[in-house]
Amino acid sequence: MKLDNQTVCLTVPADADFVDIVRLTLYGIATKWGFSYEEIEDMKVAVAEACNNAVLHAYRGLEKGSMEVKFEGTDNGIRISVKDEGNSFDYQLKESKAASLHDKQLDEINAGGLGIYMMQALMDEVQVFTNSGTEVVLTKFLQRNEEMA
Ligand SMILES: Nc1ncnc2c1ncn2[C@@H]1O[C@H](COP(=O)(O)OP(=O)(O)OP(=O)(O)O)[C@@H](O)[C@H]1O
Ligand SMILES: [Mg+2]
Repeated sequence: MKLDNQTVCLTVPADADFVDIVRLTLYGIATKWGFSYEEIEDMKVAVAEACNNAVLHAYRGLEKGSMEVKFEGTDNGIRISVKDEGNSFDYQLKESKAASLHDKQLDEINAGGLGIYMMQALMDEVQVFTNSGTEVVLTKFLQRNEEMA
């Protein structure tokens, strides 16, 4: 199926019970759009991390809100946006912490604080916008299968 310019949007409560729905939707869409099993597994983990952050951190101290997940087909892959309207945070600071993980031994790394690092490891591109709430944009490029061409 051609993925140019197709968009699927899903708005769910920012609640752990709904992360499964997002993962199932991702599975359905990514299968239709020709991603491999491994690519889909990687994307499921990355998207679940982004959703878990919205569930756990966004609405802390606020009334529970929702998260909007948008799946967009591009000419060379898929772009997945996970957006909440909750508290923002200093992404630059967290990112520099994540980058410094490379030099550390496993036992030096504290539990927690791995979500953003995992998203970066599993996706081709990760962008974070924190102007109003948080929007995480995850991109995966579709590998062209030469044998099928
Ligand atoms: N959607 C969000 N809203 C508000 N703050 C966020 C959001 N996403 C991330 N953060 C902030 O960035 C920090 C780092 O996120 P990250 O996912 O890397 O680690 P974590 O959620 O603390 O732990 P882990 O994901 O390993 O369980 C969080 O602790 C939180 O302070
Ligand atoms: Mg996290």
